[in-house]
Amino acid sequence: PANTLSQVYRDDFLIGTALNVQQINEADASTDSLIRQQFNAITAENIMKVEVIHPEWDRFDFDAADRFVEYGRKSNMHMVGHTLIWHSQLPPFVKQITSADSLRQFMQHHISTVAGRYADKLDGWDVVNEALNEDGSLRQSIFYNLLGTQYLVDAFKLAERAAPNVELYYNDYNNEQPAKREGCIALIKQLQEAGARIDGVGIQGHWHAGRVPFDEIEESIEAYAALGVKVMITELDLEVLPRNFRGADVNRRMAVVDSTLNPYAWGLPDSVEQQLARDYEALFELFLKHNDKISRVTFWGVNDGQSWLNYWPIAGRTNYPLLFDRNNRPKEAFHKIIALK
Ligand code: XIL
Repeated sequence: PANTLSQVYRDDFLIGTALNVQQINEADASTDSLIRQQFNAITAENIMKVEVIHPEWDRFDFDAADRFVEYGRKSNMHMVGHTLIWHSQLPPFVKQITSADSLRQFMQHHISTVAGRYADKLDGWDVVNEALNEDGSLRQSIFYNLLGTQYLVDAFKLAERAAPNVELYYNDYNNEQPAKREGCIALIKQLQEAGARIDGVGIQGHWHAGRVPFDEIEESIEAYAALGVKVMITELDLEVLPRNFRGADVNRRMAVVDSTLNPYAWGLPDSVEQQLARDYEALFELFLKHNDKISRVTFWGVNDGQSWLNYWPIAGRTNYPLLFDRNNRPKEAFHKIIALK
């Protein structure tokens, strides 16, 4: 159909979504056709993370990942692997490593095996994910603690060797914020100066309805593009938060955004539906303005029912962050984004 996201934006950037096993194996017909019609790029939400694909030293489990790339091939999708080196969702055997040598051995084995297996199938890899602290310094992950900054260069060089034709990305959240952005710029320069190939940087884009940092996003798109790398929005969603929310206040995050959508319960200027529509419209206006720098915009999930924001950082809430609701009905935000073109 001519009025779908991927069609309407085809000359600007790819429009992606994150997929889990459920969407690939047992998607209902409505979700399945929504995926194929609206999106032309897919990212593995969980199935290529180390704890899933490499549960033990000498055991890999490629079942779900193989199905992911097969699904993408059949539907003619741009495919992104996520993620090779990350401090989170690691299996016990990695967390238990205490020597630099063993960790280097793990990285070598993991990257050559996983990136190698999909070298002719994937279009891009999030090689390293979330290596930075909010102040722009490097996170004290197991990788940094045992190997120092060199692990970044090693990861990209190993990925390049295993998958020479796949684009290689650095991906993080809040890296549109000035201090973290500076750290991210330094990280990219470090890779470039060490002769490692980095093709793009991902700004995850887990923002909040009514609080989208538009200026910082624009400054970051420009600053990253000036380094000669592609810019991507890789995990876009707009969380709906309760009134008076403070960053660390997890209990207040128990906003139950139910289908009745009480328009004022979250302290937003008007209804959640309208706030989301305005934010998404302004975001896509900004992305369009920089369509020469942005290569892909990926949403973190297909519809609200499948969004991680229903169970993170705590389970049991009902969030409303994406363009399609639980019944796959397009929201006002969707229509606004389509109408921009
Ligand atoms: C999230 C998934 O969406 C959840 O299903 C999982 O339980 C935890 O991870 N940044 C990332 C993603 O890079 O890998 C995370 O995905 C969301 C935050």
